[in-house]
Amino acid sequence: MKEPVRVAVTGAAGQIGYALLFRIASGDMLGPDQPVILQLLEITPALGALEGVCMELNDCAFPLLAGIVPTDDPNVAFKDADYALLVGAMPRKAGMERKDLLEANGGIFGPQGKAINDHASRDVKVLVVGNPANTNALIAQMNAPDLDPKCFTAMVRLDHNRGMSQLAEKTGTHNTDVKNMIIWGNHSATQYPDLHHTTVKGQPALELVDMDWYDNTYIPEVQQRGAAIIKARGASSAASAASAAIDHMRSWALGTPEGEWVSMGIPSDGSYDIEPGVIYGYPCTCKDGKYEIVQGLEINDFSRAKMDATDKELREERSAVEKLFA
Ligand code: NAD
Ligand code: LMR
Repeated sequence: MKEPVRVAVTGAAGQIGYALLFRIASGDMLGPDQPVILQLLEITPALGALEGVCMELNDCAFPLLAGIVPTDDPNVAFKDADYALLVGAMPRKAGMERKDLLEANGGIFGPQGKAINDHASRDVKVLVVGNPANTNALIAQMNAPDLDPKCFTAMVRLDHNRGMSQLAEKTGTHNTDVKNMIIWGNHSATQYPDLHHTTVKGQPALELVDMDWYDNTYIPEVQQRGAAIIKARGASSAASAASAAIDHMRSWALGTPEGEWVSMGIPSDGSYDIEPGVIYGYPCTCKDGKYEIVQGLEINDFSRAKMDATDKELREERSAVEKLFA
């Protein structure tokens, strides 16, 4: 058995937290030989509810759960954290766009970025789930000047998984037959689900579906899936969001299969002509706990326009929150 690692989770008493913690503690995220210490952050009024969640975690008698630290102090929650899942934030309601949450949620991520900077492991892996996830991740990263910016990522894996599942349904296949889709850009209605490099049972996806369905049905349905769930459930996605967070962290920590990639929101570095300064969804491969952008993919005019549109939105979000940067 390995030494335990410390996993900080914020918003631990919320609905995503409730779907997430038990899977981390059971080994779904970091593997069956990796004990974890859960460091759980909540706001003070939610500490009672968090206590109940901790009681249930203990009642599971998980072999891999090596400790639980519930707290309302970010400096305690992020102390020596090897992994940090920043979930705690308000979810949107019907009729809102995710960026409408910037004002309510943006202020959470500066102080948390600073606490991560001051207390976490120097190669902490941070995943921001709280919306608007990409720009909140940017705020956290800009408040952590002592850490490599690559420590900070945002979740577009839920969109990636939605895209795989909807393509599998259309082509009468299973989602495991779908390889190498890409979510470029923002976890928002401007995200670009790109099928130009995707295969289904080894065949190019765009040879199996027509462009009209791709452009006018598939892309908007993946972009709007979060809103469709809010409408149907009366609450924003929770179990699927938690599952995508597990997938994101597992890929990052344990690696991606040879020849396959996943989508991750990461600091742009000029790749694919997306200038530095935003957290942008890219195709990534992971190995030895590090991610790399997949390079050299051909980008046609159709894709270019959509990649630039989502980049433009991210830069507008950035301008709105620059006052929160350290
Ligand atoms: P929720 O309201 O059920 O839970 C949020 C929890 O965060 C609450 O328990 C609240 O007390 C806590 N919290 C608030 N401020 C905090 C702070 N400063 N520090 C620590 N905890 C804090 O919401 P939820 O459904 O779990 O969703 C959480 C966030 O995740 C929302 O912003 C939602 O929009 C977002 N989300 C993102 C994705 C994605 O794909 N990126 C998917 C689903 C939901
Ligand atoms: C989702 O995509 O389901 C989440 O980001 C919640 C939302 O507001 O859409």
